[in-house]
Amino acid sequence: MDDGNDAGLDTYQPVDERLSPPKSFVEQANVADGAIYADFDENWPDAWERAADLLDWDEDYDQVLTERDGGYRWFDGGQLNACVNCVDRHLPERKNQRALVWEGQLGERRSYTYLELYREVNEFAAALRGLGVGEGDLVTMYMPMIPELPIAMLACARIGAPHNVVFAGFSADALGTRMDAADSEYLITCDGYYRRGDAVTLKNKADTASASVDAPVTTVLVDRLDGYDPTLGAREHSYSSLLADHGTERVSPVERAATDDLFRIYTSGTTGEPKAVTHTTGGYLSYTAWTSHAVLDIKPEDTYWCSADIGWITGHSYIVYGPLALGTTTVLYEGAPDHPEKNRLWEIVERQAVDVFYTAPTAIRAFMKWGSEYPDKHDLSSLRLLGTVGEPINPRAWKWYYEHIGNESCPIVDTWWQTETGGIMVSTLPAVRDMKPGAAGPPLPGISARVVDGNGSEVDAGEGGYLVVDQQWPGMPQELCEGDAWAATASENAPSPAGVEWAYLTEDGALMDDDGYITILGRVDDVINVSGHRFGTMELESAIVDIDGIAEAAVVTGTDDAHGKALYAYVSSEDDRENTEELRQAVIDAVEETVGPIARPKAVVFTPDLPKTQSGKIMRRLLEDIANDEELGDLSALRNPEVVGEIESAVRSD
Ligand code: PRX
Repeated sequence: MDDGNDAGLDTYQPVDERLSPPKSFVEQANVADGAIYADFDENWPDAWERAADLLDWDEDYDQVLTERDGGYRWFDGGQLNACVNCVDRHLPERKNQRALVWEGQLGERRSYTYLELYREVNEFAAALRGLGVGEGDLVTMYMPMIPELPIAMLACARIGAPHNVVFAGFSADALGTRMDAADSEYLITCDGYYRRGDAVTLKNKADTASASVDAPVTTVLVDRLDGYDPTLGAREHSYSSLLADHGTERVSPVERAATDDLFRIYTSGTTGEPKAVTHTTGGYLSYTAWTSHAVLDIKPEDTYWCSADIGWITGHSYIVYGPLALGTTTVLYEGAPDHPEKNRLWEIVERQAVDVFYTAPTAIRAFMKWGSEYPDKHDLSSLRLLGTVGEPINPRAWKWYYEHIGNESCPIVDTWWQTETGGIMVSTLPAVRDMKPGAAGPPLPGISARVVDGNGSEVDAGEGGYLVVDQQWPGMPQELCEGDAWAATASENAPSPAGVEWAYLTEDGALMDDDGYITILGRVDDVINVSGHRFGTMELESAIVDIDGIAEAAVVTGTDDAHGKALYAYVSSEDDRENTEELRQAVIDAVEETVGPIARPKAVVFTPDLPKTQSGKIMRRLLEDIANDEELGDLSALRNPEVVGEIESAVRSD
């Protein structure tokens, strides 16, 4: 095991408390029969038909799972269109039901019925065609949380053009890198958005990014900001003018193979480069529809709200594709949870009578800190189910959520998954299994996961190890379907379990209790998770060491009162440089430029040298312990123990 990568594997204190779902929930749940686990075991992989059956297929698939040339194909032979599944097919029964409900930062409200969504998606699909977008062309989107974002995604899906959504908080550099990596010549963006009432421009960043990419870029610009009318260049088009030009047009949906790409999304990996993850049309859509149905218990008549941003995978799967495939009403919220007041989210839950609410532990910890008087002011009795995603939730925050938001009558699903998995993999089925605060739950029916040690042997119940998924699932990305190296027979970090032919290495540490419940301990690779956002330490560190005067850098996570966790950058400067305020600012600027303000370090700690092992590896675990104000363990493996005291005092005085 790497010195730096096993942090936290042995430090978990289990909480052995169980709570059952209320009878009223069980009685109405989409999946309430526990026999589903055995059914999937006995009929795997054919039991996955259940997921495919939630969709409309133009052409039936030949087989549920096909293994060919070392790769895997889900629903091979099947043909479908994702936009038809999320929009058109709902028209006969619910054309006047709201599909999207949008709450803007300035208090604006807009909604689209399924019919209105159908019209605008068609008009925009026609406009994209008119701009030359063809089947298979990758279209980048760099947009805030406005309805035009899911509309653009669905328009792309309609014409078989995979989208590549880049989070609007990312910098121009990060956008340019992702457009170049994707060879994307089309960009849909926005003049800007509002954050805490202030206008934030986006067009300038989009322009900088477009200028940096190799190919000429055709851009569509949505007008969101009042009183800002930038002059458009030759390759720039206004979204509203395009819609006006293509009003009333309808576009026949392009039949896509189940195995065709639906979209690409870049996430953080262990190298300095963003990691491309590509999801398929049939497998991914079946999987998000199925998990929305079975885990989030979404029904067409619900108003459902996932407070994530569509720029991340959570928003793709559980704001757009899963909920719309099921024909529900999905809420989109632009803006901050505490603006104009800290009761903002609860006010929306009450006004929209939200049935299912899905958020991140970092948000729950903030709610807890603000106090229960904010939710207490509102009638939250419409809520039926609560969910969390993105990072481990500590039992105290879990209980606060359960009591103050769910009034002890809503089950909570703690859902573990990743950009790569496409959808939820580990969670209780809310009507079937008891909840254990702090533990995500067992793998879903049909999902097989184990916890193994450094040699690939299964560890004992309750012991920390590496989480591996040792059976394919419909939401697996194209890169894994094609036999990519993320599935391995052996790797230094997380080996494949002994006797198992194929395993997906999740790069998460976990432990499994004797009842099969999994507790996630956090990443074991060089990816770090802060406030539910995923960063590659390599990407951040290479931005820092590019600064003139910086010799070395290590970025780790440490405690932060407001957010639970924050980034700490430890840097050593070149000998001839003083540790000036200027250099500290340069570190912050470099991170903001390369990734964006979301990756801004809480602390930049200068040190004469970084702590290293005898073999010269930076000892990240030690840096993390210092940032967490924890007792430091054995330092005998260090080549330079003398730097530790200096680093500690630099952190304390910061
Ligand atoms: O470490 C795990 C953590 O988030 C990582 C995946 O991040 P990303 O690809 O950005 O996707 C986030 C949304 C699915 C995982 O490797 N993670 C996700 N869900 C949980 C979690 N950690 C603990 N508990 C969870 N429920």
